[in-house]
Amino acid sequence: MFRLEEFNFHNKTVFLRVDLNSPMKDGKIISDARFRAVLPTIEFLVENGAKVVIGTHQGKPYSDDYSTTEEHARILSGLLNQHVEYVEDIFGKYARDKIRSMKPGEVIILENLRFSAEEVKNKPIEECEKTFFVRKLSEVIDYVVNDAFAAAHRSQPSLVGFARIKPMIMGFLMEKEIEALMKAYYSKEEPKVYVLGGAKVDDSLKVAENVLKKGRADIILTGGLVANVFTLAKGFDLGKKNIEFMKKKGLLEHVKHAEKILDEFYPYIRTPADFAVDYEGERVEVDLLSERRELLNNYQIMDIGSRTVEKYREIIMKAKVVVANGPMGVFEREEFAFGTVEVFKAIAESNAFSVLGGGHSIASIQKYGIEGISHVSTGGGAMLTFFAGEELPVIKALQISYEKFKEVVR
Ligand code: 3PG
Repeated sequence: MFRLEEFNFHNKTVFLRVDLNSPMKDGKIISDARFRAVLPTIEFLVENGAKVVIGTHQGKPYSDDYSTTEEHARILSGLLNQHVEYVEDIFGKYARDKIRSMKPGEVIILENLRFSAEEVKNKPIEECEKTFFVRKLSEVIDYVVNDAFAAAHRSQPSLVGFARIKPMIMGFLMEKEIEALMKAYYSKEEPKVYVLGGAKVDDSLKVAENVLKKGRADIILTGGLVANVFTLAKGFDLGKKNIEFMKKKGLLEHVKHAEKILDEFYPYIRTPADFAVDYEGERVEVDLLSERRELLNNYQIMDIGSRTVEKYREIIMKAKVVVANGPMGVFEREEFAFGTVEVFKAIAESNAFSVLGGGHSIASIQKYGIEGISHVSTGGGAMLTFFAGEELPVIKALQISYEKFKEVVR
C-alpha cells in the first residue's frame, strides 16, 4: 500500500477522507478523540504544501447525531491552530471552485458526505467510481489519502471509489491501526484474551467464533449485552424484565448462534457470575446462583458484578495479548461504570499487548483517565470486522490502488 512519505505533495490537491463521526449531545460534539487521531496526517500534508480537502460523515440520515460539518471545522481549526473553512457543499460547482482556488497549506472541510444519497449505500468499487461524487471531485484533486480507519468496513464512494482513478494513500492513523490490530491478531504469545462487551452482539459473536476457530484466542470474557446473550445461551434465566428488553432490541435471535459457538467452545467463553441491576436508582448486585436472582424479573441488568470483575481481572493479569471492544455495562451512569472501569484498568495495568476499541470504550477511558493500553483504536465496527476475519473494503481498495498506480508514481 502507498505510504505518505513516498509522495511529494507540494502544490497538490489532496482529498483526505477521515472519520470524524463523533458522539453528540444536544447538537454538540462531546468527544474530540477522532479529531486528535488524524492530526498527524493533516499536519504532515499542510507542512508539505498540499491543499487539503477534508471529507467525513457524521451520523446517518434521520439519526440524532446527523449534522453538518460546521462544528467539525471549528474543532479542527482549534486543534490545528489554523483556519479550516467549512464548505457547505460536497461536489457541486461551489465546492469545486473553492478547491480550485486553494493555496498550498490551506485546509477546507466539505459538508457531511452522507448528505449525498450516493454515499449512504454500500456498493462495490466499480459502482462507487460511477458516482457523481467521484466523477466530479476527480476533476479537481490529484491524490486521495484515506485515514478513515473507523469506516474501513464500509464500501462507500468516498472511501473506496477513487481507488482505480487516483493514487490512494494510507494516512498515518490507518497505518498505525492496521499494524496494531495485526500484531494482536497474529501474535504467537499466549494466553490471548478477548474481552467482548457493548451492544454490537452480532459482530461480537462473529469475532468470538472466528478467533476461537482459528486458535487466535484462548479465552473470551463477555460483558454488556454480549454477556446477556451468552448467559441465556448457557441456559441461565435472566428474568422477565431482562428477557423482554432483549426481545425488544432483537437480541433473542442471536441466542441460537451463541449456542452453536458454545457447543464447540463452552469452556473458553466466560460469562458473568453476577450482575448489577438498577434497583430503584441504586446499584444492587445479584449473584446468578443465589435467591436474589428473582430481582432480575423486575430490574434491569446495568453492569457486571464485583465477583465477575475479580475473576476477569485475574485472567487479564496473566494475559500476553488482550483485545477488548465495548463496555461491560451502562458506564455513562456513575454507579454502573464500575465493571467497565475496573476491567479496562486491569487491561491497562497488565503487561499484555493490548488493543481496545469501540466509540464508547474510548469515551470511558477518556472519562476515567485510564492510561497504559498499548493501542486505543478509533474503530468500533471496523475493528470487530477485522477480528471477525472479514475483509475490510477500504484496505482492499488501498491494495487495488497500489497495484494500479505503483509503476506510474514511482
Ligand atoms: C463508526 O462510528 O463506527 C463509524 O464512523 C462508521 O459509522 P457507521 O456505522 O454509521 O457507518
